[in-house]
Amino acid sequence: MPIPLLDLHRQYQTIREEVLAAIARVCDSQGFILGPEVEALEREIAALTGAAAAVGCASGTEALWLALVAAGIRPGDSVITTAFSFFASASAIVRAGATPVFVDVEPGTLNLDAALVRKRIAAHRPENLRAILPVHLYGQCADLDAFDQLAQEFKLVIVEDAAQAIGAEWRGRGAGSLGATAAFSFYPTKNLSAYGDAGIVTTVDPAMAEHMRRLRNHGSPRRYYHDEFGWNGRIDAIQAAVLRVKLPRLGGWNLSRQQHAATYDRLFAETGLASAANSPVRLPARTAEATHVFHQYVIRAARRDELPAFLAERKIGSEVYYPLPLHLQPVFSYLGLKDGDLPVAEQAAKDVLALPMFAELTEGEIRRVVETISEFYS
Ligand SMILES: Cc1ncc(COP(=O)(O)O)c(C=O)c1O
Repeated sequence: MPIPLLDLHRQYQTIREEVLAAIARVCDSQGFILGPEVEALEREIAALTGAAAAVGCASGTEALWLALVAAGIRPGDSVITTAFSFFASASAIVRAGATPVFVDVEPGTLNLDAALVRKRIAAHRPENLRAILPVHLYGQCADLDAFDQLAQEFKLVIVEDAAQAIGAEWRGRGAGSLGATAAFSFYPTKNLSAYGDAGIVTTVDPAMAEHMRRLRNHGSPRRYYHDEFGWNGRIDAIQAAVLRVKLPRLGGWNLSRQQHAATYDRLFAETGLASAANSPVRLPARTAEATHVFHQYVIRAARRDELPAFLAERKIGSEVYYPLPLHLQPVFSYLGLKDGDLPVAEQAAKDVLALPMFAELTEGEIRRVVETISEFYS
């Protein structure tokens, strides 16, 4: 039997009737854009994350743009972010008219390295530096204590990219309430996923939330009157209704993911494959302050480029998140960074591999993944 990286069918089987009823409810109402389902979702996500308010929008990418603009980022500003993330973490900065300043990541968690951010600011503070945008990579919060300190010291705003981290915590506080504002994605592969594109932005400041509501709706405080340039960044009611069916189950699903991660760790330890620093496999690093929700379980693998094909031949899914760091993407060549400048991110791009991870995965499947990887290295 194949073991896919993610099997959404299994989740769907457990919620099918409720999802179809929720979609029917929206169809019966004939109200498709924003409306009561979206407002209810916004209240529920604000409660889950501990933020003051949440504003539903078209995607995680849109959420990042809303967060940046509402946080006051303007053309000509600079925003420090990680070199190792999905493209949208940086492209949203560009769409807000600002310049991304890429800094390297921690060797363990692969999250933005606060010590290197401090060094970068001390060496040469980027022009009009206004914000830091840490990404909670793979579902584990970046070091928010250190970023808080930097934000206070250098008068910066923290914008969290929490796209992969719904339900994650830092010292018991929810991702989405740790900075001034945060972006979440409900892309179908995420821990909480829509039946299409959708996202949400959270904030600790109700006034900022009101600004976001205008921005996602053509910068319009009332119909056909426009104070500033926003555009159509709205979420539709069907996505909100589907998300509301899933939301009460998110805690249980995240718990299952954590248990699967522990099972991977244990089985890898039993093989001896990951026991020493020079072992062919290194397991995901955990930060004590963070509650990791394992959006992905990502190992560091020797001969990484050969391993996915070996697994695929045995019908096991895997994926490289991400094969090229952001500072080396051709579209960012104008920033003038080159190979060798951010070595930790560059090394990660060469050896990371995400293994099958979803709530309904079984211990038997995890065992087969680990045994197959063991066979590869034997
Ligand atoms: C870290 C990160 N940021 C932003 C996004 C963008 O989200 P979306 O695909 O919903 O636009 C994603 C997911 O795709 C992501 O993983």
